[in-house]
Amino acid sequence: MSKLLDNIRDHAQGIELKGIKKSYGSNVVIPELDVAIEAGEFVVILGPSGCGKSTTMNMIAGLEEVDRGSICIGQREVQDLEPKERGCAMVFQNYALYPHMTVADNIGYSLKIRGMNKTERMAKVAEVAKVVSLQDYLERLPSELSGGQRQRVAIGRAIVREPSVLLFDEPLSNLDAKLRHEMRIELSQLHERIGATSVFVTHDQVEAMTLADRIMILNKGHLEQFDTPKNVYDKPATVFVANFIGSPAMNLINNIERDTPLWQHCHLGLLDSASGNEIIAGIRPEHIEIVTEGGMSVAVKYIEDLGAYKVITAVLDCGQELMVSTPLGLDEAHPETLRIAFPAEKLHYFDRQSGLRL
Ligand SMILES: Nc1ncnc2c1ncn2[C@@H]1O[C@H](COP(=O)(O)OP(=O)(O)O)[C@@H](O)[C@H]1O
Ligand SMILES: [Mg+2]
Repeated sequence: MSKLLDNIRDHAQGIELKGIKKSYGSNVVIPELDVAIEAGEFVVILGPSGCGKSTTMNMIAGLEEVDRGSICIGQREVQDLEPKERGCAMVFQNYALYPHMTVADNIGYSLKIRGMNKTERMAKVAEVAKVVSLQDYLERLPSELSGGQRQRVAIGRAIVREPSVLLFDEPLSNLDAKLRHEMRIELSQLHERIGATSVFVTHDQVEAMTLADRIMILNKGHLEQFDTPKNVYDKPATVFVANFIGSPAMNLINNIERDTPLWQHCHLGLLDSASGNEIIAGIRPEHIEIVTEGGMSVAVKYIEDLGAYKVITAVLDCGQELMVSTPLGLDEAHPETLRIAFPAEKLHYFDRQSGLRL
């Protein structure tokens, strides 16, 4: 094991945000945020564009001030410290490599400006290069590297200072789908090896689901859920999360009248005291079963064949549309109707007023 990696693991610190508030003028971006991130954890901040992800990360890094509340990294309160005193290293979207410097000089630059002598610096750079598998590329310029290698230089440059926290702001969002996939796998493997506390901002649910130990889902600066990818998918805490995670999105059924067939098919009798118009029932497209008898008949409006599976737009008697995703080819290319069933254990229920899971 490398000494550098041992140091990073030993220095990894938890991060605690307590009562954080942030506005720009009259625009309240973060109304009130309380979260605790564990040392060594990989946390993804996920949410739609403009929900306050970068603002949250920048407050941790010290690039933005907080209006109120405190930020602890390990035992230290850092909200009044300069960015360079906080022990965070950032990896940006464009990697911001110095184009005229070699890989070795890019990685070692921060050590140079801190006045570390050349011998020590070169040893450190060599160690980092090994961690990010760039030993054979040290003399190249960034323009002579692949996208994946550039990402590794950016990470190498971030870890060379043995930060206690690594921060990533949408580092993959400029890349095409195939490269994103490769980079996700690389990042995940690097995290396993490096073990630094990592906070990663994205609006891409696939990145969040595949990289995170836990996902922080933000909606207009409000924390909707902070949980493992599995729990976020299996037990979304709110309607917002249910709708945001999963593709195609979860079907959400409103206004279910008591004792109608739809009421029964949604198994609402199981929730005592339930009155249909106070409840939203949810079911994921991949959990709807296509049955030959029983179930409900639905009209088929449209079928998208994606090769590995089909996404069917179906219409209930009440007019509501449902997405049904099925791995099996249908016998008929485009049947007019289908029979579908909702397995009881796959249904989700939310309170319509609060949006909270029941
Ligand atoms: N420096 C700034 N000045 C004024 N408004 C800002 C500034 N930075 C961000 N905002 C606003 O704060 C909100 C959240 O921005 P941001 O955190 O960048 O969102 P995200 O990263 O989730 O897309 C947006 O409405 C944005 O317009
Ligand atoms: Mg952003």
